[in-house]
Amino acid sequence: MKLNRVEKALMNNPLRELLQRRYEAPLLERLGGRVDGLRVLEIGCGRGVGVEILLRRFGARHVTAIDLDPAMVALARRRLARYGPDRVTSLVASATSVPAPDASLDAVFDFGIIHHVPNWRAAVGEVRRVLRPGGRFFFEEVTSHALARWSYRTFLDHPRRDRFSTGQFVAELERHEIAVDGRVVERFFGDFVIGVGIAVAPVAHTPRADVPTGLTSVRGGTAPSERRVLVPGGDA
Ligand SMILES: C[S@@+](CC[C@H](N)C(=O)[O-])C[C@H]1O[C@@H](n2cnc3c(N)ncnc32)[C@H](O)[C@@H]1O
Repeated sequence: MKLNRVEKALMNNPLRELLQRRYEAPLLERLGGRVDGLRVLEIGCGRGVGVEILLRRFGARHVTAIDLDPAMVALARRRLARYGPDRVTSLVASATSVPAPDASLDAVFDFGIIHHVPNWRAAVGEVRRVLRPGGRFFFEEVTSHALARWSYRTFLDHPRRDRFSTGQFVAELERHEIAVDGRVVERFFGDFVIGVGIAVAPVAHTPRADVPTGLTSVRGGTAPSERRVLVPGGDA
């Protein structure tokens, strides 16, 4: 859902930019590394500060930036006008229906947007769908702990039902085969969760001798012991 007036004022100001540049970006880089020369998506890009960080600090080759709110995308386009279409594409789109083919991106960044999505699990599913195996998901999220505070409930608009704790968010990532494996930290008494997950590559199944050629052996999902986690920046 779109931000209300109060949250827009909180997001579109120099303090938010400072926090994103000086605190969140360095922490995400420490947890997950850079994305030099890679194709990156930012969901909920707001006014585009994150895109600049991805291009300049993280070294992304191209960033696709999406936001549900046309007014935010207009602000981002103005800010990012100096980067040509070979570096940035900005679109009005929802994180629950990302306009990108399956496994087409090397990294996805989420600077505080999934807690705004009523069907947040669908957004996590979309992140996994567009990531190539070995691709990284960098996230900074606001937990149910923060959203239950009087200040959040009184001044800001968020979906009320089915919000997530740190544990629930990480469990949902793992359910979608995005392995976090300890690359996660909580901040401010559990109000914020910051981390990096890696899209797990399904192990190629060796054809079984007892299955006739042309048929496929079907298994009930990929067990954790069968997963292969690739190192950050590594090729699939
Ligand atoms: C809290 S703001 C964060 C903006 C920016 N990422 C930042 O860190 O300053 C959340 C942003 O997500 C956008 N948003 C909310 N729901 C969305 C959805 N379903 N898909 C894409 N963007 C969404 C809002 O319009 C808003 O710009």
